[in-house]
Amino acid sequence: MTQTLTAALVPKAELHVHIEGAAPPDLVRELADQHGVDVSGLFAEDGSYAWTDFAQFLAVYDRASRVFRTPQDYARLAETYLRSIASDGAIYAELTISPDHAAASGLSYADYVGGLAEGIARARAATGIEARMIAVGVRHFGARAVEQVARQVAAYPHPLVTGFGLAGDETEGHPANFARAFRMAAEAGLGLTAHAGETAGAESVTAALDFLQVSRIGHGVRAIEDTAVVERIVRDGIVLEVCPGSNLALGIYGALRFHPVNLLRRAGCRITLNSDDPPFFGTSLAQEYEACARTFGWDRAQSLEITRTAIAAAFCDEDTRARLLHAVATAEDAPPDPA
Ligand code: ADE
Ligand code: ZN
Repeated sequence: MTQTLTAALVPKAELHVHIEGAAPPDLVRELADQHGVDVSGLFAEDGSYAWTDFAQFLAVYDRASRVFRTPQDYARLAETYLRSIASDGAIYAELTISPDHAAASGLSYADYVGGLAEGIARARAATGIEARMIAVGVRHFGARAVEQVARQVAAYPHPLVTGFGLAGDETEGHPANFARAFRMAAEAGLGLTAHAGETAGAESVTAALDFLQVSRIGHGVRAIEDTAVVERIVRDGIVLEVCPGSNLALGIYGALRFHPVNLLRRAGCRITLNSDDPPFFGTSLAQEYEACARTFGWDRAQSLEITRTAIAAAFCDEDTRARLLHAVATAEDAPPDPA
């Protein structure tokens, strides 16, 4: 099925959303009942996830992910998420997947990826949305664990697993420790990205660029703290997977008007917009696009440019890229909505 976009709906693409972090609280509670998993203390009175700082967020995220115990659970999660963003105009998404989280729920890598791929296929059949997966290692689990993920991804290639990355606590472990894992992933033909410049500063972005051969940086916004790092990002065409709502929720910036996304864009950085862990941070992909357009005065052409940048940097094959770029061009040419 091909997706039809109304002229008013900006076609969107998302490069940075953690699949476990996209789990709606209602789905987590339902699966917790079904599988008999204790989720006490995970939710606030209003039903949302309860956490106060980055460390607690990671702990709640880890516990919530334990309710996904079967390939069918993951299929349902991927399908639910992709259908929801497709209804907001998304034509492409890369789901960040974490084999370590699946293993903690007793799922093998093959079952995890198989379940997610089934959900992706169902969402694609229903809406036309295209999706790929980026397998990440968790930084605070250490270099051996991250290498183990790289080894697994290389040993069991899947056509929809097209990227490799590094998530988790950025203040733990130097990127040099993970260089071997990234070399293995590069040799397996995967696109490379790493979280940096989120909870740590510009030096963390420099270290990721120096040691991990990445073409994209997850967040990267704190590069703004060092002009030389911004210049390097511009010069090397590094794409930033910016997640403004996540940064606000984690208190990295106090308000969107103080967020550096527009400064980075105007400095010439290649910017994309992403939701990271949407129900944890009270955001959505559409909200990110709308809030930035409203706050920074971006017109439709500037929002479309964000989508084009994401598609240009996507870890997908060239036919898919061309098809997605064509969809954006078609939406650009569409006459304005009469409403
Ligand atoms: N894993 C899930 N969300 C994350 C984030 N915002 N930063 C680092 N690791 C994460
Ligand atoms: Zn992230």
